[in-house]
Amino acid sequence: MEIDKGLKNTFVDSSSICFIDGNNSCLYYRGYDINLLVDKSSFEEVAYLLLYGKLPLKQEFDNFNKILKSNQNLPKSIKSTISNYPKNANIMDVLRTSVSSLSLHNNDYNNFEKSINIIGSSTSITALYNRVKNNEEIVEPLEELSYAGNFLYMLKDKKPDEFDSKILDIIFILHAEHEMNASAFSCVVTSSTLSDIYSSITAGIGTLKGPLHGGANEGALKTILEVGSPENAEDYVSNALKKGERVMGFGHRVYRNYDPRYIVLKKVAKKLAEKKNQLNLYNTANEIENITVKKLSGKGIFPNVDSYSGLVLYLLDIPIELFTPIFAISRNPGWCAHILEYTANNVLIRPKTHYDGKLDLSYIPIDKR
Ligand code: SDX
Repeated sequence: MEIDKGLKNTFVDSSSICFIDGNNSCLYYRGYDINLLVDKSSFEEVAYLLLYGKLPLKQEFDNFNKILKSNQNLPKSIKSTISNYPKNANIMDVLRTSVSSLSLHNNDYNNFEKSINIIGSSTSITALYNRVKNNEEIVEPLEELSYAGNFLYMLKDKKPDEFDSKILDIIFILHAEHEMNASAFSCVVTSSTLSDIYSSITAGIGTLKGPLHGGANEGALKTILEVGSPENAEDYVSNALKKGERVMGFGHRVYRNYDPRYIVLKKVAKKLAEKKNQLNLYNTANEIENITVKKLSGKGIFPNVDSYSGLVLYLLDIPIELFTPIFAISRNPGWCAHILEYTANNVLIRPKTHYDGKLDLSYIPIDKR
């Protein structure tokens, strides 16, 4: 018996959804390199690819996209429930609770339909709460806008420009799937009991919220803002490491080299920073990276997806409390794909623990203890 704490070296299943080459900075969704998908595809098409295992024919895509758009319109009761949430709620809690409540409305759907319902609804839930929390009118999605464009429109009540929509689409694509990460595993464990997909995705959202996983994008941006300029990076990183703190946006359980998503996002961040005249923030992030890599790459610690994703979202003028919800919105197709794949040949997931406590103790009545 060997305890594999954190399941660092355990393969729970074989899968054809995602391949990560952690030493050579490669990431594939269903056999397609993510750089190809970023250049040529869209989040909507990548969601189809992850769920169905192939790129869609034109007719298939149009049908899928039509259903996805229709699911961006939330049931009235959910809208009013969200509108009555406290204004200071954590938006990951709002998303987790609201995705869970979708199950009250759609139980007769099959799992593909439920997956599309979750993907479509998640942007509207997140944007709607953010509007209500700021005492702004709810904004309904527009037929002519893309998935990413509609999210920006529902958030800001202003049609986004092509450039910003494309950048958010890239964020969505890069976060759509990542093999058996902690939140995907939560989804699979829950669905392995043959529980419903809404319960599984609710578990995934709760898992992603943690700062060691999805919450790191917020942390990485806060670091960049706190450091403020490239000259301060050395002191900040050295002090953090001296205190045994982790530099958010660095390190990864699988990548022992640069995260391929970081490579794409760093270029996007630079272009956006130039466009928004915020190069100082980009240069600060770059210096934090240089210092951290110098100090930690010897331990196999390199920048991960979160090192620049927060900066990109900040430069898109998206509130920081929406960063991890955006990660969850993006990851829905990946989570659903793992649930569909695992339950197709389902085995209940029930590992063991090695018992190291006492046995056969005698019961002492409370007044004699
Ligand atoms: C995501 O799994 C996925 O695929 C996740 C994800 C996805 O798409 O789903 O890629 C998304 O979660 C990216 C990671 C985001 N998290 C962060 O950026 C938070 C900071 N990173 C770490 O906490 C850490 O790197 C983890 C949690 C991501 C991975 O940690 P491991 O593999 O469990 O390694 P570990 O915690 O055992 O650390 C090993 C050593 C330790 O030092 P020692 O105790 O051996 O001396 O490396 C050190 C750690 O202290 N270390 C860091 C560090 N990350 C690891 N030290 C400083 N800063 C860091 N960021």
